[in-house]
This record gives sequence, structure tokens and C-alpha cells, in this order.
Amino acid sequence: MHSMNRRRFVSQGCLTLAATSIASSTTFGQIERASMIASRSAGPRRIIIDTDPGVDDAFAIFLAITSPELKIEAITAVAGNVPLSFTLPNALRLVEIAGRTDIPVAAGATAPLVRRLISATDVHGQNGFAGAEFPAPSVKPVSEPAVDVLRAIIGRNPGEITLVCLGPLTNIAQALQADPALAGKIAQITMMGGSLSGGNISPAAEFNFYVDPEAADIVFRSGVPITMVGLDVTEKVTFTEKHLAMLEAANGPVSMAAAKIARQEFGLARKRGASGFHMHDPLAMSSLLDSEILRLEDYLVKIETAGLYSAGASYGYKHNPVRGSAPMKDAADVSRVSDAALRPNAKVAVGVNSDRFFELLIPRLTKA
Ligand code: BDR
Ligand code: CA
Repeated sequence: MHSMNRRRFVSQGCLTLAATSIASSTTFGQIERASMIASRSAGPRRIIIDTDPGVDDAFAIFLAITSPELKIEAITAVAGNVPLSFTLPNALRLVEIAGRTDIPVAAGATAPLVRRLISATDVHGQNGFAGAEFPAPSVKPVSEPAVDVLRAIIGRNPGEITLVCLGPLTNIAQALQADPALAGKIAQITMMGGSLSGGNISPAAEFNFYVDPEAADIVFRSGVPITMVGLDVTEKVTFTEKHLAMLEAANGPVSMAAAKIARQEFGLARKRGASGFHMHDPLAMSSLLDSEILRLEDYLVKIETAGLYSAGASYGYKHNPVRGSAPMKDAADVSRVSDAALRPNAKVAVGVNSDRFFELLIPRLTKA
């Protein structure tokens, strides 16, 4: 089978690579080996970014790339804000702009697990960068699909890898489904997604969970330690003209690209009646860099998958009882209330220091 061949090739490791540019035939195994040789034995937190760039995804990826506290093992693209045919080349464009073509970029899911893709072109434009145009990337994705790349890196580094998830959780759910032992090897998942206080794309649901509620449900049931950075905090962190001026005053490739995307996004924001746009994904990334930016509380988070109006909603239980909807009269299972000891499955961001976030973000983006 084609995918088996790919996996076998990944597991062989094989040749080293002077990883300055990625040819179309390059495999993830080659790139990973090269970056292992270059990396230090201890130090930065090792992450994989799963993402759907995406205006705010671009800011988050730039923040990660400009942060020495993080070592990006790979970027896996997923359909979300716009189709994969845009998010994948956009991810490649971002690593190229930042001069980090050594980071493997892999193609992930083109659609949610069981639903049709709903995208967010009103916020991110048709091309995912609010209409900001950049040249086609000269680098290519690795030949293995995202699920294989996730399994290979995590499998080789049990307990070492943090997943930073910035889009619908389709790739992660598929990897967990393909390999049930994987959950026990993931150090942590830090995600932008969800809300304990209503949604943004529907009254009930935040966009990433709305797009693939079944995937979110699988991830929250997986037992992997989760940090959920949702709308409760991200909607309190707004990028404004003042921040744009600071980016434009700097002259580096990263700051100029971020400014170009932001300038375009202000146009879309004005159409929505907003004076700025939220830093959803970079805020999630920032939680790995400065533990004082967010205040986290333990919750048992449940994901709604069944509702006609509420699929993708996330609910946080803090105290017993854990009460689901009332059972139907003809239901065989009437036990919708649990008094068993409540076991939190996530740390949920409930408070944010917005100034402190921008004091981290702007200097990092303007130095690059
Ligand atoms: C999330 O949805 C996307 O539009 C953003 O990139 C972010 O990940 C916010 O709801
Ligand atoms: Ca995103």
C-alpha cells in the first residue's frame, strides 16, 4: 500500500540533508535526521504546529519561529480557514519568508472527519492571507502525509513533543485513530479552540471546533494533557493600527510580511464593523513562552457533536454532577448524570494579560 511504503520510508531515517531548500522528492525522514544533527541535546521545547494559515495562524507561526524557546519539528497543514490547497502553500510561504525551509511542512486533511468543510473566507479572504499576495513557494511539502509525520516524530520521541493546534483538529484525530498508543506519547496539546462562553461562527461554537466537532471530541477524550485557549481569552486580545505601525517601522522580512497581511486584514475587519482583529492563534502559542500571559483553570471539557444548532460547542464542568441533556422517553440509557469523581481533561484559559502578550509578540516579530 502506498501509505505503508511512505511510513516504512519514514521509519528508515536514511540520508542527511543540508536543509536549506526542500526538493519535491525530499522525505520527512531526511529532513528530520538533518535537524536532529543540528539540534542541541537539551533546551527548547519541541513542538509540531498543526495549522490552517490563516491570518492569525501566520502571526503564530512567525512568533514560534522567532522564539528560541521553541524548536519546531514540523508544520502540518489542515483545511479550515480556507481549503488545504491554500493552507499548505501558505505554510510553505511562511517558512520561506522566515528563512526556515529546514522545517518540514506536510499536507494534512482536505476535509473534516465526517462533515463538509466550512471555511472562513470572510475573515481570512479567499487566499487565507486576507488577500495579501506572496510569490508561490519555491519549497515543497514533504512527501509523507501529516498523519505519518505526526506518528513518526511522536513515536520516535515519546513524551517529548508538544502539539500546538491552531486549526480544526482533523489531523490530530486521524493520527490518534490510526495509532491508539500515540496518545500516551504526546507530552501535551496546546490548542486554540473552543469557548466556555459561546461561539464566533455560531452562537454555540468556536470556528475550529465547529468545523470538526467529531475530531475535537476524539482529542478531548484521548487522555492527552490539553491546554485549551479559547474565545474566552482570545477575543480580549485585539491587534490594532497601533501594533501595525510598530511592525511597519521595522524592516525585516517577517515584520514586513506580517504587516502586509495585517494591513489587508484591516480592510476585511472594517467590512465586519471591527477596528482590529483578534490574535487567537498567537495567544495560544504565547502560552508556551510566558506562563504569566494566561490564567488557566482545570475543567472537564465536553464537546457537543449531535446538535442541529450546537455542534462544536464546548462545555466546561468544574464541579459534580456532570449532567448531560435529559434522556428521551424511549432511551435505553437514562444515565445522563454522573456523580463519579470529576476528572478534568484540560486546563482552560479563563484570564489574559493582553498588554503582556503584545510586549512579547511585537519585539519578536520586529527583530526578524
Ligand atoms: C480560530 O478560527 C480561525 O479563524 C482562526 O485562525 C483561529 O484558529 C478562531 O476561532
Ligand atoms: Ca487557525
